[in-house]
Amino acid sequence: MTFSGAKCGLVKIKNMSASTANLTNDSVVIEQRVDALLNRMTLAEKIGQMSQLDASHGYAPDYLAEGLRSGRIGSVLNVADVNTVNELQRIAVDESRLGVPLLVGRDVIHGFKTIMPIPLGQAATWNPELVKQGARVAALEAATTGINWTFAPMIDISRDARWGRIAESLGECVLLTSELAVAMVEGFQGDDMSAPGSIAACAKHFAGYGAVESGRDYATTNIPETKLRNVYLRPFKAAVDAGVTTLMTSFSDLNGIPATGNEFLLRQVLRDEWEFDGFVVSDWDSIRQLQIHGLTENDKESAFEAATAGVDMEMAGDAYSKHLVEHVEEGRIEVGNIDAAVANILRAKFRLGLFENPFTNPEELPPVANERSLETAKDAALQSVVMLKNEDSTLPLSAEKLKSVALIGPLADAPYQQLGTWIFDGDLDLSITPMHAIHSLVGHDVDVRYVRAMEHSRSKATEAFNEAVEVASNSDAAILFLGEESILSGEAHSRADINLPGDQAELVRRIRETGKPVVAVILAGRPLTLTNIVDQVDAILYAWHPGTMGGPAIADLLFGVESPSGKLPATFPRMVGQIPIYYSQKNSGKPPSGDNVVHIDDIDTRAPQTSLGMSAFHLDTCFTPLFAFGHGLSYTVFDYQHIRVSAHEIGVGETVTVSAELTNKGDVVADEVVQLYVRDLVASITRPVKELKGFRRVRLEPGQTTTVDFELHTDELAFFGRDNQPTVEPGVFHAWIGGSSESELRTEFRIVEGEESDKS
Ligand code: NOJ
Repeated sequence: MTFSGAKCGLVKIKNMSASTANLTNDSVVIEQRVDALLNRMTLAEKIGQMSQLDASHGYAPDYLAEGLRSGRIGSVLNVADVNTVNELQRIAVDESRLGVPLLVGRDVIHGFKTIMPIPLGQAATWNPELVKQGARVAALEAATTGINWTFAPMIDISRDARWGRIAESLGECVLLTSELAVAMVEGFQGDDMSAPGSIAACAKHFAGYGAVESGRDYATTNIPETKLRNVYLRPFKAAVDAGVTTLMTSFSDLNGIPATGNEFLLRQVLRDEWEFDGFVVSDWDSIRQLQIHGLTENDKESAFEAATAGVDMEMAGDAYSKHLVEHVEEGRIEVGNIDAAVANILRAKFRLGLFENPFTNPEELPPVANERSLETAKDAALQSVVMLKNEDSTLPLSAEKLKSVALIGPLADAPYQQLGTWIFDGDLDLSITPMHAIHSLVGHDVDVRYVRAMEHSRSKATEAFNEAVEVASNSDAAILFLGEESILSGEAHSRADINLPGDQAELVRRIRETGKPVVAVILAGRPLTLTNIVDQVDAILYAWHPGTMGGPAIADLLFGVESPSGKLPATFPRMVGQIPIYYSQKNSGKPPSGDNVVHIDDIDTRAPQTSLGMSAFHLDTCFTPLFAFGHGLSYTVFDYQHIRVSAHEIGVGETVTVSAELTNKGDVVADEVVQLYVRDLVASITRPVKELKGFRRVRLEPGQTTTVDFELHTDELAFFGRDNQPTVEPGVFHAWIGGSSESELRTEFRIVEGEESDKS
């Protein structure tokens, strides 16, 4: 990998303003306006545009007002009150010399007042259109306060459930993350970013953050360039191609160079290869942290490293405002480089229409938390819940047959906890819990009894278990609401033990002893290891942190108003030591199978043994996950048949269609997420055993059959090879269609030498 972190000397950087060659009329006008404005700016005003300040006080203190007047601040974050935002804009526009409006940033991650499921839950919907609507609702609501920029989507590939930020991610898969990243960008930015209700998006964290060692937030990452390009960078490329306005750097260091000072990422990949014309913001104070990483000696050098690497705006730090002028005066950074960064920022401001409309009138936007917002939140929650297990069709419960049901557990009635991480502005009063929703849905027909049993998920006190056991014993079924509170996932909330915390497993065991049907509804910000409870319950609904409308969605699923249709966006390990475990792993030279593994309990230590299996497995657990990527059950049975390809051989640059027949064999209407996986059998670098190449959500009536087909162009089978360039290699490919990554319905086709495709 070619990292060229310039440590000293004059650094010449290619001017990054968009070339005017391919610009539309609007873009040409914008470039002209950017240039004209830049020409009028002093160096201090330019650096002001590159500086973002925390304005979370809820008013405009003197230093902030003064900073705006003098043009020393180009953006604020963490102010979400329309009057304050309008006042800040007024000072910037009316009282500063050049009247440049402000970018107002905020973490609007999965909703504003109306909270959608956490992003990992949204990923479990496998429904880009719904995810886009969720982002749209969030944008419309946030825009009522004058926020014009969200720090979302977070699209770090996440293959480590210990990492707290997996909650904010879209899971482990390159394709699923990329498609949902595009959906979110489109939802936030709308068709016209200058229209009221559209806000700029920010793809973060560039790049590799999801690979932090042992899932400890902010820790180091080491990712070979081929893997970086084949896995971690791809969702960012998709977001850039979709027109994302900004990117945020990662806190972590990548192969020895912190992302915030990483010229390879920010210049070579992002600007030279991808031709990104938006701007890059640092993460919170991450420029000054370059010193703590050990890359620089002081803030002045940190400002130099970040600016020369390609960070256009500093978030919540003062390294740029204090030191960039000196660097220019000392001749270490050319003004042209500052101009390029400022042009990137001004371009975004023009595209947002801020110069024409800097102020916000909430009346011009739909009211927050309107019917449509809540419906979207409910649909998203409904489609996000994954039914992991349903022994003997325990679910759905029947409101006609059940006389009583026990609701037990710390998360049955926890309105705040079900909203999940990153809900700065979420309206707690809107949150409907499962306990309330079940009462409303079946309260007249079924005696609903609630016992909290544990103060919170981490409680070790078991005194209240007796009451729970008694209530369960006297009810027809028990529903346990288990998991982890929102505070246990998210930024800086990583866990080394991802079992159900506290004494929840003991609670499950005690309720199991009642002999009643036991359903577990699990609310959590990550895949938890469920090995110690999976056999103790009859059914499991995995609800993530489902957001405002989580309760009604869970109630509908429990009582069969709708069939579960979520599919796992991340593999569920059996135990934490299996991490990283993900479906698109490499085969290795000694892949495990049923007959070349040994379990620790079967080792006969009395007899001398030289070898134990000799394959890539752990002695003390299975080599398979507890639940595979893409897994998710339904109240109906979906049957896949007749997989076929439109051609057994295709040339490079051609398309093959892979199709299969899908039948709803049960007696309820339900959605299924049909998944296409591909394996490139032999290549110049080893390739994953399976890669998702297409997916589609379809709804089928009982007895209905449909043919689902996926068109696959050879460009979609390209990968970055030994020379880190994209390549499509002739050879045999296996293709599977099914309802999870474990589908066995397979066909194959071959790419033959032929017409050269455009692989760029
Ligand atoms: C730090 C987080 O890493 C980032 O994702 C977030 O957007 C910023 N803080 C701003 O709150």
